[in-house]
This record gives sequence, structure tokens and C-alpha cells, in this order.
Amino acid sequence: MESSIFESSKNVFLDIVNAGDYVQLDRVSTIYQSLKDSVNKPLKMILLYGKPGTGKSMFLKKLYHDLSNTKRVHLYQTPILDDSEFFKKLAHDLLDVKYNGELNFTQFMKVIEEHDVDEIPIILLDEAQLYSGSLMEKIRLLSDTRKMKFVIILHKTEKEDLIAKEHFQTRIWETIELENASSTELKTYIQKKLMKANCFDAANMFGNKSVNLIHKLTNGNYRDTNKLLYTLFDIYLQYLENDRSKININQVSNKIIEMSAIQTGLIDA
Ligand SMILES: Nc1ncnc2c1ncn2[C@@H]1O[C@H](COP(=O)(O)OP(=O)(O)O)[C@@H](O)[C@H]1O
Ligand SMILES: [Mg+2]
Repeated sequence: MESSIFESSKNVFLDIVNAGDYVQLDRVSTIYQSLKDSVNKPLKMILLYGKPGTGKSMFLKKLYHDLSNTKRVHLYQTPILDDSEFFKKLAHDLLDVKYNGELNFTQFMKVIEEHDVDEIPIILLDEAQLYSGSLMEKIRLLSDTRKMKFVIILHKTEKEDLIAKEHFQTRIWETIELENASSTELKTYIQKKLMKANCFDAANMFGNKSVNLIHKLTNGNYRDTNKLLYTLFDIYLQYLENDRSKININQVSNKIIEMSAIQTGLIDA
């Protein structure tokens, strides 16, 4: 095996959110379908939550990518924390109006209420736990106008905080949770990701035993798995260049998996 394959394999596990790199996983596909259906229903808000590294941003990017062919959809990957800037961005995206000065909530509401929509635009808000409580409340009021629909993405812990607030309990029509992968899902994830990059030999290195160990170390978290495998291929590259006789390139070694886990801080040395 050429070192270029390890180089490509390593780069497969860079922590990048790109719709083209999306891997179809059964459980995620089911959730994805239900979310796509929800988006088509006349509901007000959708809440998607999960621990960091469970694939929320990736999922959202894919949703955005797929919906944008047929729908009016906007993705806000980075929260806009200033109220006025947030409303100005919405005004620009939804109404194609540019404001120079301040745009406060009352003013924006007035503009929205006067505006007729034939198709409700969808706004996808990633990292929504960073928005202030008062801005979330305004977002809720904007949803009530039915002139726009929000999909809100939150870290898991913040979900309890948010829906504990009673005004949100009745408003959020649907909540969807993303979770860490099972061992089987993790195997699919690793192999499909490598195969997408034409790293077939590398994909074949991961049997059930190796994946079970990786799952034990990462708990099935996608981000942690990326980190671990990026380091793992980096270690293989070093062996390949310096000490080729020490490695077996047909199967991943548990020792190197453990070394990678130590290097990435997943286990203590
Ligand atoms: N379905 C998927 N297909 C491909 N890569 C994924 C998928 N889910 C997660 N990932 C990978 O895992 C990493 C972490 O996922 P991310 O969406 O950023 O998690 P979160 O937003 O929940 O913290 C991403 O950079 C991406 O590389
Ligand atoms: Mg994210």
C-alpha cells in the first residue's frame, strides 16, 4: 500500500462539515426523512438536539443542500448574536431589503406582518444555544406570524433548558434527537467514508474487532472517531516511511488504535 493512500485516508477524517461528504446511515436516514416531512407541514418550530459530535451540523448542511433545490431555505451556521444584525440579515434574506441603521424587533415585526408570502421560507439555525433567551423569545414570536419557519439546533443540555420554558413547550411541534453511533453504525461510517474517497484498502482494514475497540474508546461519537482515525492514519504513515516491517497493513492493529487514543486524549497514558 502506498503512503498516498494513508495520506488520503487521514484527510477523510478531518473535522469538516461538507454536504458532499455526508454518509447515509440507517438511523439518520429515518430521522432525516421525518425532518424533511416536518418541514413540509404547516408547523411552527422544529428542534434538533444532541451532544456535540453527534452529527448535527453535518445533518443540517445536508438538509440545506437537499432542500435548496426546491424550497426557500437559509442556513445560519454561525449565530448572529446582535438582535438588530439578526433581523437585518433576515430582512435581507427573506424580503430582499437592506437596512443601514438599526432594525429593532418592533420595526421588523411590522415589516413582516405587512409582507405576504406564498411560500414559507425555512431558516436553519445552528448552534442556537448561543442565542440569548430574549432573542429566542423573539424568534418564537416570529414563528407565530407563520411568515417563516425555524429549525433550531441545540446542544443536548440546552434542550432541557429551552423546552422547560413553558412558552416553548406548546410551540415546538417536533423534537428530534441525534445520538452517538452504535458499533455497527460506526463500522458503516468508517468504511463508507473511506470508500467515498476511493480508499478501499484502508476501508478493508477495519473489521468488527477493531471497530468495537474504536467504539469503546469514542463511545460512537463522530467527532472523537474522526480525531482518533486522523491520528491513526498519521501513525501508520510514520511507520510506513520509517519502519515498514513493524506494521501489518491488512488489518488495523489494536495497539495503534490505543496509541491514537492516547495521542488524541481519549484515554490517559
Ligand atoms: N452522516 C455523516 N456523514 C459524514 N460525516 C459525518 C456524519 N455525521 C457526522 N460526521 C462527521 O462528524 C463530525 C462531527 O459532526 P458535526 O455535525 O460537526 O457534529 P455536531 O454539530 O453535532 O457537533 C463532522 O465534522 C463530520 O466529519
Ligand atoms: Mg455543530
